[in-house]
Amino acid sequence: EKGGHKHFMAKEIAEQPTVLADTIKHYITENGLNLPDNTPDFTQIDRIVMVACGTAYLACATAKYWIERFAQIPVEVDIASEFRYRSPPIGPRTLAIFVSQSGETADTLAALRHVAEKARILSVVNVAESSIARESDIALPILAGTEIGVASTKAFTCQLTVLLALALKAGQDRGMLSAEDLRSHVADFHTLPGRISSALGANEAIAAIAKDLSKARDILFLGRGQMYPIALEGALKLKEISYIHAEGYASGELKHGPIALIDPAVPVIVMAPRDTLFDKTVSNMHEVMARGGRVVLVTDSAGAKEAGDGTTAVITMPEISDLLAPILYAIPAQLLAYHTAVAKGTDVDQPRNLAKSVTVE
Ligand code: F6R
Repeated sequence: EKGGHKHFMAKEIAEQPTVLADTIKHYITENGLNLPDNTPDFTQIDRIVMVACGTAYLACATAKYWIERFAQIPVEVDIASEFRYRSPPIGPRTLAIFVSQSGETADTLAALRHVAEKARILSVVNVAESSIARESDIALPILAGTEIGVASTKAFTCQLTVLLALALKAGQDRGMLSAEDLRSHVADFHTLPGRISSALGANEAIAAIAKDLSKARDILFLGRGQMYPIALEGALKLKEISYIHAEGYASGELKHGPIALIDPAVPVIVMAPRDTLFDKTVSNMHEVMARGGRVVLVTDSAGAKEAGDGTTAVITMPEISDLLAPILYAIPAQLLAYHTAVAKGTDVDQPRNLAKSVTVE
């Protein structure tokens, strides 16, 4: 049942090239988008609220970068347990998006009901027959297949895939994304499963680094731009299954407080593909190194060549378009958490105090 893997989590991480190919095939044709006909027309939407919990919330936080970039629609991302007790301004031109693997998370469902009368409701779910799917105006399945490990892995990358397809549609509807740019993003999308396979090739290298990380009491993750939510996801995954205290920060926030934590006992994982923000992130990384911090840099080969010197370790990812980088860099975040937990001997698939589906408030 674990397909030769030691844990469901390992199996589900390894499945990602296949499940992502299925999700991509469902929503993206050879040269365009293929969203259902009842997907909202984004010319009729002037505000989007995205609501979820945990890892699904971090998928929303990533999608905000995409929707703003392609469609210039204001996006607010909220935690379901907060949203449900607020009075969020919602109008007829507001689209509310709820993201949930299980489709049964109590807070997310309550948040949906909180605005169901007022807003258009779109959900992104894995379980197509779930309460959240049923109570939405439209439910987009992520097609990840059953996820058993409590720590969400393949559901996260499939959520990102669906949300990116949606962001591209928003850009297309609003005439802000040229046909040529769309074609090029679609072509990139089709190369993603192959890149994810290559990223999984870093498995052994990450296992070796994780042995060292497993001795730490605290670990920081840094990222900038669309890598910031992925840094948060790396920290969430790590604390969830290895019980090591971990925090993610926007790289630029470092000097506003967290830099005080830096010392050789606190490893710092820097998620930084060689994109337009790379130099900024690297300069934050150098601030860490100047204070005796030990850095694990997750980047591509160009980034490794430019900034690998002086780091403790480099995890090399394949080249990827900047748009798809958050999906690809979720893989090393998952593998770091997984191997650190294995090195510590914790219960990877059933971490203490956690349930796969949180159906109570
Ligand atoms: C983290 C994790 C949780 C869930 C959260 C939401 O690995 O699994 O943070 O993401 O409980 O669950 P769903 O997506 O089922 O609403």
